[in-house]
Amino acid sequence: MTTTHPPQSTPTTPSSHFDAAARDWDQRPMSQQLAAVPPLLLAHLPLSPTDQVLDFGAGTGLLATQIAPKVAHVTALDMSAAMLQVLDEKGVANITTHHGDIFDGLPGRYHAIVSCMALHHVADTAALMRAFAAALHPGGRIALVDLYAEDGSFHGDNAAKGVQHLGFAPEALQAQAEQAGLQGIVFTGILHMQHRNGQSYPLFLMTGHKP
Ligand SMILES: C[S@@+](CC[C@H](N)C(=O)[O-])C[C@H]1O[C@@H](n2cnc3c(N)ncnc32)[C@H](O)[C@@H]1O
Repeated sequence: MTTTHPPQSTPTTPSSHFDAAARDWDQRPMSQQLAAVPPLLLAHLPLSPTDQVLDFGAGTGLLATQIAPKVAHVTALDMSAAMLQVLDEKGVANITTHHGDIFDGLPGRYHAIVSCMALHHVADTAALMRAFAAALHPGGRIALVDLYAEDGSFHGDNAAKGVQHLGFAPEALQAQAEQAGLQGIVFTGILHMQHRNGQSYPLFLMTGHKP
């Protein structure tokens, strides 16, 4: 596994929260619930052994490590160096970690872009959808997991954690994806996360493709 760093990175949201949380990330109860996401996502995302895949906001690789055995290569993009360090230590040969903000550019083009719980940290999701569309090969697919609209209680301290959206209304994200040129957008409820505050928070899987 190799790590690439852009010459300069200008993060749009603070990575300090994730840098501090990285070492214990995989042991957190919420992360252990997110371990259910990869098989559910893979059931909706056809992949081939020759595919190049981007995991946006890959963190410690809870998703990337499960996708890597099924494809040629996964680029794990994240602006938290500490999260990527934990992923690097897992030693998966066909994962390259890329440290940077997606809006500083991407190192390649992809047959699929996946993401888990990173969209709500991006203020301009319309620009994010345009970045995804630009980085996909024709026929390439997206498979994105995040929170349905919530009341702000999921993260608690939203500002300190760089939360830009209290979940999403599917129709708003769908419109942004379609304006970016993506098609066949479908939302599927895939998981309810049980929070220690006693509430249950549903997650969606958003799929679609570039014509
Ligand atoms: C809640 S964590 C999820 C990590 C991992 N996908 C998981 O499910 O455990 C969100 C991640 O997205 C990253 N992130 C947020 N905005 C980003 C951006 N603009 N460019 C790159 N990474 C970003 C953060 O650094 C963080 O590691």
